[in-house]
Amino acid sequence: MVPPEEIAAFVIDAASQAPSVHNTQPWWFGVHGSRVTVHADTDRRLDVADPDGREMLISCGAALFNLRLAARHLGHTAEVRLWPDPERPTLLADVDLIPDRPATADERRMFEQITRRHSHRGGFTADRPPTGLSSTLGAEARREGAVLRVVADLRAIRALAGLSEVAEQTQRLSPDHVGEIARWAPAPGNRRKDGVQAGAYPREAAHTDPHFAARDFARGQGWGRTEARHLTGDRTGTVVMVMTREDTAADWLAAGQALQRVLLRAAEDDVSAAFHTQALEFPELRAFVRERYCDGAHPQVIMRLGHAEEETGGGVRRPEAEIARDEP
Ligand SMILES: Cc1cc2nc3c(=O)[nH]c(=O)nc-3n(C[C@H](O)[C@H](O)[C@H](O)COP(=O)(O)O)c2cc1C
Repeated sequence: MVPPEEIAAFVIDAASQAPSVHNTQPWWFGVHGSRVTVHADTDRRLDVADPDGREMLISCGAALFNLRLAARHLGHTAEVRLWPDPERPTLLADVDLIPDRPATADERRMFEQITRRHSHRGGFTADRPPTGLSSTLGAEARREGAVLRVVADLRAIRALAGLSEVAEQTQRLSPDHVGEIARWAPAPGNRRKDGVQAGAYPREAAHTDPHFAARDFARGQGWGRTEARHLTGDRTGTVVMVMTREDTAADWLAAGQALQRVLLRAAEDDVSAAFHTQALEFPELRAFVRERYCDGAHPQVIMRLGHAEEETGGGVRRPEAEIARDEP
C-alpha cells in the first residue's frame, strides 16, 4: 500500500505540469489524508489580460484533469466535488482519491504524455495529423463537457489570424499589458520557476500563411531560443477552438479539463499545440468570434495543432513545497 501522502505528492506533481496562461501556475493544493483540494491562486491571475479569471480557471481545469489522470495511473479514482464550499469561491474542488481498478493501457498512455507535452511557438511541418484525429479530439472534448471546433474554412482561418494580430498589436500599445507581460516573461538567466522563460520561445518564429501573431515575450530585447539548424516548418497547422455552451466559472473549469484531455490525446500522435488566445482577452473581439465563428457557443481557447520540427523546451514549474500545503 502506497501511503496517502505519497499518492497526494504524485498527483500534485502531475497537476503542476499542466499548461497555464503565461505559465502563471495559478493554483495550490491542500492535502488532508486521501483528500486533495484544488485552489485558484488569485495573486497569480492576470489582472490586465484576464480580470475575470477566465484563463486562470481554464489553467486550473487543465491541472485538475492531470490530477484525475494521475490518480487513475495509480489505480485510484478521483471523486471530484466542484466548489464544495460556497463561502470559499477559490476552493475549486475537493478530490477524494479512492482505490479502484488498475489503470487501462489507454490511461497509462495518456498519462505518459503529461511530461512529453509542451506548448509550441512557431510553424509546423508539412506532415498532416493522422486521419481521424480531429474527430477523436472532438470526442475527448465532449467527454469533459466542451466542444472542439476545427476551423476548416480558409477565410475563417484568415479572419481569426487577423484578429489575433489586431489583439496583439493593441496589447503592445498598452503600457499595462506590456507591464504584465514583463512580469511573466523574465530575462534569461533568472532562476524563477514560473513565467515564460526565453528557452520556451524562438528568437525568430517562422512566418506561416495564414500567420497567427505570437505574444511579445522578448519585448525587443532579442531574447529567445536560437535554433541549431535551419527549420523548414512554416505551416499554420490545423486551427481549432475549445468552446463551451455557457460561459460560467464552471464552464471555464470544464474547458480547461477538455483542453488538457485534447492536448494529451494529440501528444500521443506527436501533435503539438500553439496557443493564440490574445483576441479572446478583448470582450468585443471575443463577442465577435463567438457570433461569427462559434454559432453562439463561447470561445475559450484558440490554437493551432501540428507536428513540430524542433524540440520545444519544457516550461519550468514551481516545486511541490511551494504549491502543496497540509490542510487541517
Ligand atoms: C488558457 C491558456 C492560454 C494560453 N495562451 C497562450 C498564448 O496566447 N500564447 C502562447 O504563446 N502561449 C499561450 N499559452 C501557453 C502557456 O504559455 C504555456 O502553457 C506555459 O508557458 C507553460 O508551458 P508548457 O505548456 O510548455 O508546459 C496559454 C495557455 C493557457 C492554458
